[in-house]
Amino acid sequence: MAEERRTRHALVTGGANGIGAAIVLRLLADGMAVTFCDRDIAGGDALASATGANFRPVDATDLAAIAALGGSLGPVDVLVNNIGVDQHAFFTETGPEDWRSLLTINLESAFAFTHAALPAMQANRYGRIVNIASEAGRLGSKGGSVYAAAKAGLIGFTRSIARENARYGITANTIAPGPVLTPMVERAIAEVGDKLHADMAALTLMKRLGQPSEIAAAVAFFASEDSSFVTGECLGVSGGMGCGA
Ligand SMILES: NC(=O)c1ccc[n+]([C@@H]2O[C@H](COP(=O)([O-])OP(=O)(O)OC[C@H]3O[C@@H](n4cnc5c(N)ncnc54)[C@H](O)[C@@H]3O)[C@@H](O)[C@H]2O)c1
Repeated sequence: MAEERRTRHALVTGGANGIGAAIVLRLLADGMAVTFCDRDIAGGDALASATGANFRPVDATDLAAIAALGGSLGPVDVLVNNIGVDQHAFFTETGPEDWRSLLTINLESAFAFTHAALPAMQANRYGRIVNIASEAGRLGSKGGSVYAAAKAGLIGFTRSIARENARYGITANTIAPGPVLTPMVERAIAEVGDKLHADMAALTLMKRLGQPSEIAAAVAFFASEDSSFVTGECLGVSGGMGCGA
């Protein structure tokens, strides 16, 4: 008789809106128990009561709070590091405070969540880590240099975690989304104007923005048993942007 397996527990960071919320919905639909965290308390409460997912408020600039949250959650089988903030300024217009803040939220928070989750994954000899980077981390970004550096760092970090943890049955992979219609991009369009929508679509072979559910579908694969022989990869989910549209 096949051994009965307990329900997998997934933690999604930045799950209250956009791509993170789509990942929460998808992993719930795939039968996982889902905890998500976010600094948007109203948005998090609304999603939790609509879906039954467990919401934990946290601000990812507070690395000690992330460690405390990790310690209070119990074992996490699937960690999706999704929290991120973008940048809209040329490098010469930025300074050390911007660099620190962008690196803390986009990169160090993933270190802290991964650091909190790994010991139990290693003990259980099972884990799936999925990190949401960006095509900016592979191609660079005009007006997003520090963001791109953080995302490139996330890809290197993920490959290193894959190397260190394959022996424990833990996989670690990165997804590099192209432009996806989320509150992050809606805010940018509101700031810059409608032309930005067309400009971003033009970067892709498919000449459109992605939907959050299209990123969540790729996360679902990396989060599942089906990806058991896939680790250290970075998958572009970007309408072909990565192949030089
Ligand atoms: N939307 C895109 O076009 C796009 C493209 C490439 C990569 N990405 C990446 O995908 C991920 C999700 O992006 P999105 O477009 O859904 O963004 P979004 O702004 O729509 O949602 C991000 C979520 O993260 C939360 N968050 C942000 N900073 C936080 C902090 N300090 N502490 C706790 N929560 C915080 C926000 O409250 C929000 O719920 C990010 O890592 C982003 O860099 C997005």
